[in-house]
Amino acid sequence: MEQRHILVAVTGGIAAYKAPELVRAFVKAGHAVRCVMTRAAAEFVSPMALQTVSGQPVRRELFDAAEEGGIDHIALADWADLVVVAPATAHTIARLAGGLADELVTTLALATRAPLLIAPAMNVNMWRHPATAANVATLTGRGVHWVGPDAGELACGWEGEGRMSDPARIAERAESLLGARDLTGVRLLVTAGGTREPVDAVRYLGNRSSGKMGYAVARQAARRGAEVVLVTGPSGLATPDGVRRVDVGTALEMRDAVLAEFAAADVVVKAAAVADFRPAAASELKIRKEDLADGAGLSLELVRNPDILAEICRDKGKRVVVGFAAESHDVIATARSKIARKGCDLLVANDVSNADSGFDVDHNTVSFVWPAGDVESLPPLSKDEVAGHLLDRVTKLLGDRE
Ligand code: C5P
Repeated sequence: MEQRHILVAVTGGIAAYKAPELVRAFVKAGHAVRCVMTRAAAEFVSPMALQTVSGQPVRRELFDAAEEGGIDHIALADWADLVVVAPATAHTIARLAGGLADELVTTLALATRAPLLIAPAMNVNMWRHPATAANVATLTGRGVHWVGPDAGELACGWEGEGRMSDPARIAERAESLLGARDLTGVRLLVTAGGTREPVDAVRYLGNRSSGKMGYAVARQAARRGAEVVLVTGPSGLATPDGVRRVDVGTALEMRDAVLAEFAAADVVVKAAAVADFRPAAASELKIRKEDLADGAGLSLELVRNPDILAEICRDKGKRVVVGFAAESHDVIATARSKIARKGCDLLVANDVSNADSGFDVDHNTVSFVWPAGDVESLPPLSKDEVAGHLLDRVTKLLGDRE
């Protein structure tokens, strides 16, 4: 298994005595672990125990001259592939929700771009308190992951939810968040967004594509270890971590960029909404309405753009090529004829007539259409989840080709 970097933050509850067991589970799974702890945590578990099991010095202070000289706290936040707060007290959860940065644990949580997994441990009434519930909801809204708390007998004498989950369960959850690195060594080219075809100096023909689906594929592929190039039409979306981005405007520019990157790719995913037509000639000057009488017509001559997907499929060799088809009607029948015509390995069909799916929303309801005409319909999922399923199929196709 590939070694991942896990930062374990221990805060001050009785369950802290289980933290060394959690660290051991990570180390046994082959991961590199570094521990940090709050001052209160050191009342419940010895820093020496954590140092021994992790094989690394344990940090306790935000500003410690000796420690900052080794690996400073921002470098530590960047180092982590995953941050696990276990146990997390009600106080720490409140401070995380508040975005405080007055000691080491909350500062690291604020500075890191890695996913955050929290294993709460506290008295049942503290867990159920509306203040804690509101903090949990705030953090959930920011994408924080939770494991537990479990119900049972609590150290304080009460019964109920509040026990920190078993280290084995926390480790299992962490593993699933770290995800498979099954695309390590794979070079993936993904296109995203819509193209813009100039009409005149200020206008263009465009479409409603937001780029979210293609960006999700790029993000998930990079997380799974692929070397990702994202060729994107104009989009306000942030470039996913670890992805090389190439910006283009028109379909012809997208074609040039795709052909330039294609030779080096093992996988191509064409999620872009490429304009099928462009104005035959874009006027260099703005077309003025004043030059036309009220009610007069203006014709725009359009010419067909090259079909990039069909073009690369003709020369695809051992590459895996995936196309998308956004349709408003006859979705499956159209997708079947499209995959036959274009020659890709898999076509992702989505029904854009559905308001909850398709353009500029975070969810998508898609069907995978295969060259032989068989269809796998997925339930409504987030675009990141659709990307995950798509990459599972790509991994399988790559495996079959070896
Ligand atoms: O034919 P249609 O546009 O519906 O096909 C959609 C698929 O083909 C998408 O994967 C899209 O990126 C790709 N495509 C292309 N070049 C075009 C039009 C579409 O690569 N000119």
